[in-house]
Amino acid sequence: MVYSEKEWITWMDQLAENDYLIQDDFISDDLYRKIMTFFSDVEEKDKLKKAGIGSSKNYKIEESIRGDFIYWLDRERDDELTPFFNLMDELITNLKRHCFLSLSGSEFHIAKYPSGSYYDRHIDRPNERSNREITVLIYLNEDWKKGDGGELKMYRDEGELLVEPIAKRLLLFKSDKIEHEVLKTNVERYSLTGWLLHQPSSLGYIFPG
Ligand code: OGA
Ligand code: NI
Repeated sequence: MVYSEKEWITWMDQLAENDYLIQDDFISDDLYRKIMTFFSDVEEKDKLKKAGIGSSKNYKIEESIRGDFIYWLDRERDDELTPFFNLMDELITNLKRHCFLSLSGSEFHIAKYPSGSYYDRHIDRPNERSNREITVLIYLNEDWKKGDGGELKMYRDEGELLVEPIAKRLLLFKSDKIEHEVLKTNVERYSLTGWLLHQPSSLGYIFPG
C-alpha cells in the first residue's frame, strides 16, 4: 500500500460527499518522472493520436469540440508504468471497500493538449451510454502558473469550480454527475486520464438451467 487506510477513508468520504476529490502530490516524484519519460517516448515515436468524440466522423466538428492528442495505455505492454497501475489497483480496492462501488475494468490514456486547444463542456457518461463510473485525472504540468490556462472547469449546483492542472495532482469525479470542460490552454498541457468502469449487474447473473 502506498497510502494508509486512514488516508483512503478520508478521501473516499470526500468523494462520496462531494462527487469529486482533489488530492495534491498524489503521485511521488519518482512516479511523476517515470510517467513523463514514458510520455516523451510516446511523443517522439509519434504515437499520440488525435482524440475523437466517438459520435462524429467529421474532423472539423471534432476539432471544434476537443483538441487533444491521446495514447491509450496497456498494462502488459507499458510495463514502465507498473507502479502507476498498482496505485490504481489500490484506488479501486478502496472505492469498492469504502464507496461500495461495483467496478470491473478500467481504461487509461495519456493526453496532450497543444497550445490553443480545449475540450468543450461535456459529461463523461452521457445517458447511460457508457459504463464509466469514476473519472481519474492525474495532471502533469510541472511549472504551471496562472495565465497558462487549461484549467478544468467543473459545473456544480453550488457554482463553478476551476481546477488548475498542476503536476502530481489527482482529481477524481463521478463520471455521470459532473459536467466539465477544459479551458483553452496557452501552453502544452499534459495529463493522464482514465475511467473506472461499472460492472453491469447482469454480468454476475447466472442463468438458470
Ligand atoms: C476528458 C476530460 C479533462 C482534463 O478527457 O473527458 O474531460 O482535465 N479531460 O483533461
Ligand atoms: Ni471529460
